[in-house]
Amino acid sequence: MNNFIFQNATKVYFGKGCVKEYLTCLTNDAKTILLAYGGGSIKKNGVYDEITGILKEAGKTIVEFPGIMSNPTYAKVQEGAKLARENNADMILAVGGGSAMDCCKAVSLAARYNGDIWDDFWARPGVIDFEPLPLGVVVTVAGTGSECNGGAVITNEEKKVKTGRDYPALNPRFALMDPTYTFSVPMRQMISGSFDILSHIMETYFSEPNEDNVSDDIMEALMKSVIRNLRVAIKNPEDYTARSNLMWDATMAENRIIKMGKKCDFECHNMEHQLGAYTNCNHGCGLAVLHPVYYRHIYKEGLPKFVRFAENVWGIARDGKTDEELALAGIEALAAFIKEIRLPITLKELGADKAQLKEIADSCGISQGSYKPMTHEEILAIFQECYE
Ligand code: NZQ
Ligand code: ZN
Repeated sequence: MNNFIFQNATKVYFGKGCVKEYLTCLTNDAKTILLAYGGGSIKKNGVYDEITGILKEAGKTIVEFPGIMSNPTYAKVQEGAKLARENNADMILAVGGGSAMDCCKAVSLAARYNGDIWDDFWARPGVIDFEPLPLGVVVTVAGTGSECNGGAVITNEEKKVKTGRDYPALNPRFALMDPTYTFSVPMRQMISGSFDILSHIMETYFSEPNEDNVSDDIMEALMKSVIRNLRVAIKNPEDYTARSNLMWDATMAENRIIKMGKKCDFECHNMEHQLGAYTNCNHGCGLAVLHPVYYRHIYKEGLPKFVRFAENVWGIARDGKTDEELALAGIEALAAFIKEIRLPITLKELGADKAQLKEIADSCGISQGSYKPMTHEEILAIFQECYE
């Protein structure tokens, strides 16, 4: 394994009833709380009433920051920071998925920073040498794993750039994770969020080093868990065991544990983020379209790992197959799974404009962790191949 230092500053409270049990003591130090959420799902499923009830009973002043959109924008971050400042909020509570959590990580920084956080922290990596506004999160949908890392993906609409940065100083102080909160997530979002989990694991698994290491073993177990539990949750969305496994799979995929000692690829994420910047497509759906095509493009460079993926994740027997045939069979099993769970398989379905593919391809970041670092021409070829 490569050398590493590991710390995760987020304290997790997991399980049915955790919000009721712990929210009061976790917000003890705060008088004024910026309560941030998305488009209103929490008002329909009772989560808003539960949380505001607890905060009001504890005598908190609540400042509402609603309307955080999927693929949160820099303009929305600025709106939240202004609210936090004007109301002297001393804590942010983000309730939702990756969008609410990511937006609020950036708000926690912007609320305590006088310059332009896009220029100084997202356009290029910056140094956080001050204390951001404390952030706690209540997770309502499994997927990004944003609850246990310092990553925040923000879209700058003006510049047509969607980019993520990871600052450990932005790790939420606490994450409350009640799997029953995810029961109301629409089927399509549950599936695309689960594919995002799988993608995070694959983007880490398919990278060097390839020799026997514990991270790869953990990842095979996690991939099998996502596949198995998603199938159960599709049949019965209120299966607590399946929903709790998916919720923890999501955290495990992005709490940095599996990345230890690994290079990590994330080229599919680079491509998807720019597709998202141009089309505002759903993150997991964009990833589902790209993964099989990208892997057919790079598998020869990472052959032993693709063979392992076929055998250990999909249980495909060798039966006289060559390494190449086995590797391709694993990629085809992934493609078949994407069809089985009914995610999109073309960029056209995501609303991408064929005439813009070159511009989008040229704007994508190039990962140096890939088995085969892409050129912009190769990215365009991948986009064209999965267009329709
Ligand atoms: O906005 P509301 O009304 O709350 O509805 C949301 C939204 O429409 C709905 N939802 C969430 N919980 C629900 C629910 N509906 C019913 N019941 C519930 N309990 O689900 C929809 C999607 O929510 P969103 O937060 O946008 O989804 P997700 O968690 O997939 O986050 C996507 C964003 O995270 C970024 C993505 O690029 C995208 O911008 N990512 C963040 C990462 C990170 N910070 O580490 C890594 C990822 O790779 C990813 O890039
Ligand atoms: Zn993702």
